[in-house]
Amino acid sequence: MQVFFLIILFQEFASQWLPQDSYLKSNTIYKQATGSDAYKYTERFFKPMTQYTTANFINCSIPATSYITLNQDNPQVENINWINFQLGCVISFDLYFHGTWNNQFVTMNASSFSQTNYYTSPNAYYLSSGFCDNMPYEVQTVNFSLINSQSGKMSFKSSNNMGGMVSIRNIFITKLKCYPSCKTCDGPALNQCYSCYYGTISGNICPLCPINQYYVKFLGCRDTCNFDQKLFKNGFCQDFRSNLSQYQVTYFQNTEFQNNSLHVENLKWSIKYDKNHIDTTLSLQYVTNILSYGIFKYNSGIQRFVNEIRVDKGTQSIGLKIVILIFGLFPMQGGLNFLLNNTYYGSIFKISSEIQTHNIQIYDVISLGSWLQYSKCEKYELHMFVDIPQFPFLFSSSSNFTDDSAGWGLVSLTVSSGYCPQNLQNL
Ligand SMILES: *[C@@H]1O[C@H](CO)[C@@H](O)[C@H](O)[C@H]1NC(C)=O
Ligand SMILES: *[C@@H]1O[C@H](CO)[C@@H](O)[C@H](O)[C@H]1NC(C)=O
Ligand SMILES: *[C@@H]1O[C@H](CO)[C@@H](O)[C@H](O)[C@H]1NC(C)=O
Ligand SMILES: *[C@@H]1O[C@H](CO)[C@@H](O)[C@H](O)[C@H]1NC(C)=O
Ligand SMILES: *[C@@H]1O[C@H](CO)[C@@H](O)[C@H](O)[C@H]1NC(C)=O
Ligand SMILES: *[C@@H]1O[C@H](CO)[C@@H](O)[C@H](O)[C@H]1NC(C)=O
Ligand SMILES: *[C@@H]1O[C@H](CO)[C@@H](O)[C@H](O)[C@H]1NC(C)=O
Repeated sequence: MQVFFLIILFQEFASQWLPQDSYLKSNTIYKQATGSDAYKYTERFFKPMTQYTTANFINCSIPATSYITLNQDNPQVENINWINFQLGCVISFDLYFHGTWNNQFVTMNASSFSQTNYYTSPNAYYLSSGFCDNMPYEVQTVNFSLINSQSGKMSFKSSNNMGGMVSIRNIFITKLKCYPSCKTCDGPALNQCYSCYYGTISGNICPLCPINQYYVKFLGCRDTCNFDQKLFKNGFCQDFRSNLSQYQVTYFQNTEFQNNSLHVENLKWSIKYDKNHIDTTLSLQYVTNILSYGIFKYNSGIQRFVNEIRVDKGTQSIGLKIVILIFGLFPMQGGLNFLLNNTYYGSIFKISSEIQTHNIQIYDVISLGSWLQYSKCEKYELHMFVDIPQFPFLFSSSSNFTDDSAGWGLVSLTVSSGYCPQNLQNL
């Protein structure tokens, strides 16, 4: 344990560290509340046992903020979040002591881990500005790293019964940045892994993906690299937005529907009804917690004019990331076709037991369980790169199902400047 008698803002993270969680960082005025959402008024901290009361706090006018504060009557606070504390992660926080302290302690619990700081106040505090309305105080920054993984809640408890108080601020949890194939590690190198995103560890090294699959960093094996990481190099899909400026991706538009029928993005989309099966229920709706347009059946679909394309941005082609929901099983010979300016560019369809694609890559499939009358619902993330000039176009998508056993919904569309895959080989 190391304690530093300094007012420090949290230091710049060294490159092998990644921020994970942080709490109580900004000046916020809290409100006293009781009820099941009381924790929301004190940045997710509350008084344990009386689960429905906000954490104790003090108000300051200079600066205008509140501080979660432990005193004799309110010695404890707990955070409502369930936090995964990784092996090797560093927890750091500031303790502002005020009032009289005589070797009493403040304990921080992270799940079953606990860390205790004893404190004795000086005859007169050295500092009075910088905390709360010229109140004399001393601040200690505590930081330490966890020697094993923990999962649970974070809490603080003070033992002062002499009128001394402690305010808690700037809690940061940072974790080690592991090698991209390692889920947990004790360092950033290839051979410092404890567990893997894919496969079985051997000699603290995680294996590569099977042939025909690509390693998406910090995620695992996929049939294709992620939308803006189509460069496969050194065993991993590489994000080349950050480097090589001539290959930078420009995002022209990114549709995310809003739960508001008058939202401007929602209004840009129009439904293509199937004349033989007019369905007046087509609308935006939540499926689990995902907002999507649907449920499209038979030959219905949806379209939008993508006029955000800029000729002067990016490279030659266009990249489309299309997220859809598929309800039930595609009927045989059934599929979803994607058209640009009413010209066919790609599809996802079923001609055997498996779903197949044409000019489209399936990046990810997430099962959402059953939904309404459909035995299953899956979220598909599709990537499509088309070699068309960078001009505005009409995007449309519709199904050609022969029965109503299946349906689909549109979750989002992202349009970017794509890449010229043939150029990537020279990198
Ligand atoms: C702090 O200020 C807020 C907003 O004015 C007020 O609702 C709250 O009761 C005050 N709390 C204390 C402990 O003074
Ligand atoms: C705690 O902070 C100090 C000073 O910023 C730093 O030198 C030290 O490495 C940190 N300790 C841990 C465990 O991160
Ligand atoms: C920390 O955990 C220990 C053991 O589980 C418990 O006795 C103690 O009360 C906890 N302290 C806080 C601050 O929650
Ligand atoms: C691009 O990547 C190369 C090799 O990884 C590196 O040497 C170079 O400094 C990077 N350039 C920029 C601008 O980040
Ligand atoms: C969506 O908006 C409607 C109407 O404003 C509202 O009643 C409903 O609770 C909202 N749904 C969600 C999940 O936010
Ligand atoms: C539906 O579209 C898919 C994909 O373009 C195609 O393979 C299939 O033959 C079409 N089915 C029907 C019934 O038109
Ligand atoms: C699509 O059609 C519009 C309107 O006719 C036209 O202006 C545009 O250039 C076309 N887009 C492409 C990519 O050909």
